[in-house]
Amino acid sequence: MAGEAGMNLGNNERRMLKGMLSEPEEEWSLDQLLSVTGWDDQVHVAGAGKGLQEAGMVVIEESTSRFVTLGSEGKKAAEGGLLESRLWNWIRNEKEDQRNMGSLMSSGFDRGESGPGIGILKGLGVDIVSGNLVFSNEEEISKEIDRRADFINSISNAPVQYSTLDEEMISHFSSRSNLLEFEEITTRTWKLTKSGSSVDQSALVEDQLIGELTPEMLQTDSWIGGEFKPFDVQAPAPTPTGGRRHPMQSLIERIRSVFLEMGFSEIDGDYVQSAGWNMDSLFIPQSHPARTMQDTFYLDKPSKVEVEGPYLDLWARVHEHGHDTGSKGWGGKFDRDESQRALLRTHTTVNTVRHIADNPSKPSRVFGIGRVFRQETIDRTHMPEFHQIEGIIHEPDANLPMLISTLKTFYAKMGYPDVRVRPAYFPYTEPSAEVDILWKGEWLELGGSGIFRPEVTEPLGTEWPVCAWGMGLERLAMLILGLDDIRQLYQPDLERLRKMPLL
Ligand code: PHE
Repeated sequence: MAGEAGMNLGNNERRMLKGMLSEPEEEWSLDQLLSVTGWDDQVHVAGAGKGLQEAGMVVIEESTSRFVTLGSEGKKAAEGGLLESRLWNWIRNEKEDQRNMGSLMSSGFDRGESGPGIGILKGLGVDIVSGNLVFSNEEEISKEIDRRADFINSISNAPVQYSTLDEEMISHFSSRSNLLEFEEITTRTWKLTKSGSSVDQSALVEDQLIGELTPEMLQTDSWIGGEFKPFDVQAPAPTPTGGRRHPMQSLIERIRSVFLEMGFSEIDGDYVQSAGWNMDSLFIPQSHPARTMQDTFYLDKPSKVEVEGPYLDLWARVHEHGHDTGSKGWGGKFDRDESQRALLRTHTTVNTVRHIADNPSKPSRVFGIGRVFRQETIDRTHMPEFHQIEGIIHEPDANLPMLISTLKTFYAKMGYPDVRVRPAYFPYTEPSAEVDILWKGEWLELGGSGIFRPEVTEPLGTEWPVCAWGMGLERLAMLILGLDDIRQLYQPDLERLRKMPLL
């Protein structure tokens, strides 16, 4: 019976059981088991131990205890001496009338050390009397300092069990920053049960299992009839970590390749722009609330960005009375100084309008992914700096269905096939549409789009329609990466970044 039980075990279990049977009464530690089995990886002990436990042959005892190790300051102290030891040495080597704050400062202790150091010495019984360091109980102070230094040395090599250490020393050093660290370590022992220790050793022969098919085996047919080692896909395995791109960078690359694949070319532009190009060119009224200091970062240096060419005049006419666009404009007086105020671009639409101004009679499909700035209070979904995915189709036959199908194609290629557009309003497009995608059964708003109004295109020198859109990158990133807080994208938390999906 017991012999048969042995037969049902896997090779690792057999090897471990055989090893344990050499001392059937022993309570085995991990190290002992590694040495008796010849394994060098504790994963085997854990795995085989579990198997033997399930077969009722082994009991596993777990105990967790608290261990103490040195923190960053503690390690420095172990190498270069505790601050109080070094100060104390200095004091005792110094002539009595030289033991003052002045000479301490000039003796190689920096400010960061001398201040706290004096505090520690005071706690040990050193007094400061008119700038001089005085003490009467030299022997006691030395003793206490040695005791502290011994304590630090005693844990400098390996973690030491908390319960074996001097409580008073632990509580003293715990109150100083980064000297000690505490960790919980779980240790296990393995012991044979009655049924385990009655197994017949002779039943514990390891089968030769084929773990890997080599070219030699295939050529010689030696694998035929052999027994294959089963894969345990549940076995715990280390997660390989290495260098990888930041997920935002990967996402930008992916978006880039999707647009390139769709026949678009990439453009970019400067962060610093004139209010004119950022807003007036888009027929945003100069009195628009979003222009105020609450939303837009205006700059002091430079405070002005000159608008070259005919644009100031053209925008003035369009804004004041509509010029030749068929529009009545906004009325009032267009302010050219306002138009040349410097700001951080609030959207990347400034890049696409400039592209049209530079290429008014060349059909183009362009996109850009760029950083924009708005005075937002930082919270779960807002940051003062974020990115937009911007694009236009500027050609004689551009139209609304083309705009919608382009956005649908883009999002489908990104993995979101359900896209819907809703009517919206922007001062620079007509019609205007909000773009939503379906995510986990909910429609989420990702950006704006529309056909540029004649008030926008006419001063740029084109009569062709322009399909335009501008969408949030971070919002999309949060969906793709499964985050619920925008800040997680930019925190330098390597642990979290490592775990983010590869894009
Ligand atoms: N610029 C708009 C924004 O920042 C988006 C947009 C771009 C809307 C192009 C219409 C056309 O939200």
